[in-house]
Amino acid sequence: MAHVLARAAGAVPAAARRAVGSTAVRGLATTNNIQYFKVYRWDPEQRQKPYVSTYPVDLDECGPMVLDALLKIKNEQDPTLTFRRSCREGICGSCAMNINGRNTLACLAYIDKSSSSTKVNPLPHMYVVKDLVPDMTNFYDQYKSIEPWLKTKTPKKDDKEHLQSIADRKKLDGMYECILCACCSTSCPSYWWNGDKYLGPAVLMQAYRWIEDSRDEFTRERLEQLDDAFKLYRCHTIMNCSQTCPKHLNPGKAIAHIKKRMMAIH
Ligand code: SF4
Ligand code: SF4
Ligand code: FES
Repeated sequence: MAHVLARAAGAVPAAARRAVGSTAVRGLATTNNIQYFKVYRWDPEQRQKPYVSTYPVDLDECGPMVLDALLKIKNEQDPTLTFRRSCREGICGSCAMNINGRNTLACLAYIDKSSSSTKVNPLPHMYVVKDLVPDMTNFYDQYKSIEPWLKTKTPKKDDKEHLQSIADRKKLDGMYECILCACCSTSCPSYWWNGDKYLGPAVLMQAYRWIEDSRDEFTRERLEQLDDAFKLYRCHTIMNCSQTCPKHLNPGKAIAHIKKRMMAIH
């Protein structure tokens, strides 16, 4: 990614707040059920610092999720508003963002109707490509580094699939469901400060997913590859990661299991 100039930290610069012109907002005069969406904006092609745009949304005319509101804003008020989304059902992981201070998926986050406003920011401590789109290059490079595919040594006599017992397959539950949204890694203070060297909870849980896989024959090598003061041991078991996961997974626990397995090879 060429343009990585702005960094989304917990606090968004308050300068340059932009009110939305009333002509851009349709049908709002007829309802009292308005909520204001305060959305982080930054465009690398404009010589302007990041700012917050406030968009009124008629909740009577909007679906229940924050992603519904963002799509409504983009369609009806501001086509320049930029964010990622694809499946709108918590499967692709692309709509991960920080909503009212919590990392989650916009398509799974209900609009809080008891509040007069919703704050929407990019995932924290990531470089921003534009508006709500974080630069995931480092995250994907780290994922690639753990070689997230089945690796074997024994030559196979047939071209059938690698079989696994039901009990061994069960060990992967709670890990294979990860959609790599990065909500957990970007909620982790260790990842904020050492994201270039510490692999973070999402990638470490996927590393453990392959360490635990009974069909994989590179268990020891995988552990040795993680045996590093930064890659693994920057985790201090604060557990922000497990609290924020929108799929209710527990990457903090997977990291604890890796540390335990690591002791066995020393
Ligand atoms: S563990 Fe949860 S929060 Fe982390 S990347 Fe996977 S699905 Fe997202
Ligand atoms: S448990 Fe480890 S990975 Fe999870 S938030 Fe804490 S330091 Fe980060
Ligand atoms: S749009 Fe796919 S997870 Fe939200």
